[in-house]
Parts: sequence; C-alpha cells; structure tokens
Amino acid sequence: MKICMIGSGYVGLVSGACFSDLGNTVTCVDNNKEIIDKLNKGIIPIYEPGLQELVERNLKNKRLFFSKDISNSIKKSDVLFICVGTPTKNNKANLKYVYNVVKSIKFNLNKYKIIVTKSTVPVTTGDKIEKILNSKKNQNKFDVISNPEFLREGEAIRDFQYPDRVVIGTDSKKANQIMKNLYLPIIKKGSRYINTSRRSAELIKYASNAFLATKITFINEIANLCEKSNIDVQDVATGMGLDDRIGSRFLRPGPAYGGSCFPKDTRALVSTGQIFKTNLSVVKSVINSNERRNKLLLNRIESIMKNKMKNKSITFLGVTFKSGTDDMRESPSLKMIPSLLKRGAIINYYEPTGQKKQFKSKNIIFYENVKDACQNADLIIIHTEWNEFKQLNFKKITKKRNFKVFDMRNLYTPKDMKKNKISYFGIGR
Ligand SMILES: NC(=O)c1ccc[n+]([C@@H]2O[C@H](COP(=O)([O-])OP(=O)(O)OC[C@H]3O[C@@H](n4cnc5c(N)ncnc54)[C@H](O)[C@@H]3O)[C@@H](O)[C@H]2O)c1
Repeated sequence: MKICMIGSGYVGLVSGACFSDLGNTVTCVDNNKEIIDKLNKGIIPIYEPGLQELVERNLKNKRLFFSKDISNSIKKSDVLFICVGTPTKNNKANLKYVYNVVKSIKFNLNKYKIIVTKSTVPVTTGDKIEKILNSKKNQNKFDVISNPEFLREGEAIRDFQYPDRVVIGTDSKKANQIMKNLYLPIIKKGSRYINTSRRSAELIKYASNAFLATKITFINEIANLCEKSNIDVQDVATGMGLDDRIGSRFLRPGPAYGGSCFPKDTRALVSTGQIFKTNLSVVKSVINSNERRNKLLLNRIESIMKNKMKNKSITFLGVTFKSGTDDMRESPSLKMIPSLLKRGAIINYYEPTGQKKQFKSKNIIFYENVKDACQNADLIIIHTEWNEFKQLNFKKITKKRNFKVFDMRNLYTPKDMKKNKISYFGIGR
C-alpha cells in the first residue's frame, strides 16, 4: 500500500517507519524543512529507542522516503495519515495544523484516498474534515476515518508493533476493509481490531488518556495521605494493583503527570464536554489536582531544605517528563526549576538523552554525566526513572557531606538509604 504520513514527529515518524517495515511504501512529509533534511541525511531528530535502525533498514530497502513536497506525496498515496500536533489553546484543542493539512489534501485529491486522523482530535473533527473536503469534484474520492494512536514515547516501536488494540472509526465498509488489510500483520500477532463509529474512535482516545491521568493523579493523592500517616504508598499500590479490576500499571506515584498528551488531552476533553453541555467533573478535578501537585512538590523541597535555598546546589537527574524520551513538553521540571532558581538555588542537571535543554538562566548548568552533575549537590532530585539512576553510590558521586536525596520516583527504599546513612526522602513514604 502507498502511504503518506503528514507530520513526521513522534507519531508520524515512528508509525511511518513501522508501516514501511510491514512492507508498505511510505512517504513521511513535514513542513519543517530542517526535520526532512536531517531525516534524508539519516539523522533522527527525536530520541526514540530502536528508531535509528528501523529507519535505516527501510530507507535502504527503498520502502521509506522523506519529502517536503506535500502535494506530490499526497497525490501518489492511497492512505493519508494526519499526524500533526494538536496542542491546546485556551484549554481547547488547537486544530489549525490539522486544518492546514486538510486544505492541502483538498487540492490534491486526484483519486480515491482514505484520510486518517492519527492526531488526537476532539469528537466531531472527522465530521468537519469531511465537510471541508466535500465538493462536486471530490465526490466518492475519499473517506475520512479516525485511527487514534496509543503509542508511548520511549516504547513507541513496540507499542506500534504490538498494540493492545487497533481502533478504526468509520462507517465505510470499503475504508474499513483497506485499514484491516493494512493492520493485518499486527492483528495476526494478537492485537484486537475494533471497528466503531468515527466519533466513538475519537472519544476512545480522549477517554483512555483521561482515565490514565486519573489513575496517576489518584495514586499521587493517596501518596500525599501516606506521607502524613506514616504509611508507605508502595505497599498500598501493590495491595491495590493485585486486584485484577484495578491493575498495577499507572499506580506509581511521582511528580505531576506531564508530556505531550495527558495535560492537553484532559483539558481538551473538558472543553468537548462543555460543547455538549456535559460536566466532566472527575476530569476537571484531575486537572486541578495535577496542577496543584507542582506547588506541593516545591513545598516539599523547601521543607527538605529547611527553607534555606539561597546558593544551595540542587541537581536534577533527568528533566524530561519521563524516562525513555527527550520530550520536554509540559515536563514538571519546567515549573519546578524556574521556581527553585527564583528562590536563589543553583541548578545542575544531567539528562540521559544527552541534550542540553533550553533553560534561560546562568544559574542552571548542564553536565554530561551523573557524577559531574552530583559532585557539589546539596540536594539530588531523581526526577525520571532511567535505569542508570537506579543503582547510584551517592556517597561516591557527591563531595558534600550533608547532601540529601529526594527520590521522586521511589527508585530506592528508605530502609537501604537509612542503612547507608543517607538523608533520603521519597514520595508517599
Ligand atoms: N507523542 C506521543 O506520544 C503521542 C501519542 C499518541 C498520540 N499523539 C498525538 O499525535 C499527534 C502528533 O503528536 P506528536 O507528538 O507526533 O507531535 P510532534 O510535534 O512531534 O509532530 C508533529 C509534526 O507535524 C509537523 N507539521 C505541522 N504542520 C504540518 C503541515 N501542515 N504539514 C506537514 N507537517 C506539519 C510538525 O513540523 C511536526 O514535526 C498529536 O495530536 C498527539 O496528541 C501523540
């Protein structure tokens, strides 16, 4: 099948490379010239484990192409996946990037094509896209369907190749059959294939993300209670998670949830609720609780430091919103670090994806490794759960005698730390 991925970011590039690996001819396009130039030189613009090899293999086999020519790429393809960003603006999904793509599609419908929204778009977006594309000239030349993407950054290739489910939202038998054939190698490996209405597919994505955000926020609040009642939240999470109806995943307390999906998708879902005059009070309360969490953790840092922040050296291990990715979008560190700087702290950080992040202050220093980042630390904050942070010999990597560790991911146990005479603070314990 000839496929065009429009938008070559985390979703478009990974799913495009994976579709090409299944034997399809895939063109990934992007209107950001720099991204396409890099990809054509074999440079992967994002950090995603395994992506380099996957792209190289399919480039070599001439099944994967990168192009800036959106019109031509649309014309020669049978299935067009819209994979552009849908950030929030005034708490609603901003669909300007999606509609710009739809405009390009409208003028290049030279034969029947399936137009797929893989971007996360609010309920009724498919209806609106169909309306824009409809014209006498375009009659019977397209189906607009929803195929939400559930991959997680850091596990994106595995998630794409072995998804729990493939959701296809369309009433068109023709489009459904083509999509089922496209996903057949994945379905054959055991993934469930669900054909549903387009609006249902759109809502499945938002409802899933809002539910996961709720689970994280719930355990974070239980962790707050544990901190005050001398209970270890890890015990509570284990005890809860063993109930099959609950499950242990996403019951790990930590910083506020961040990233490019949960914050924006929960906000956009509330806004969809408002359009349909439905009060999504649970989701609203999750958003509020998550926003409060940043402040709560800052207060905790202040109390750990006994309110003495001026000229204290604080080291962040990991600054992205989670491990396995270089994505900084809505990372809790973006709120915490500027607040700590304002209170006079000096921030050092190490980020395993190797990138220097765009923090604007002379009091924030990037280091190439854990040891250098920690050597002068008064406080070490474990912000993300990379494997390389899991077995640190804090006394060896830190020169200061009275340093403290705030483990926001509970990678260590209070018992071990006590044994090693390290002043240790976890979450919910
Ligand atoms: N990142 C994730 O983990 C993830 C997972 C599931 C779903 N999603 C959803 O997928 C969508 C894309 O997310 P992402 O993280 O890949 O975004 P991204 O920002 O990494 O990539 C979007 C790309 O689209 C390009 N683009 C914008 N307008 C364009 C146009 N008119 N023509 C061609 N290219 C254009 C941008 O230059 C950018 O490279 C979003 O709706 C997101 O919610 C993301």
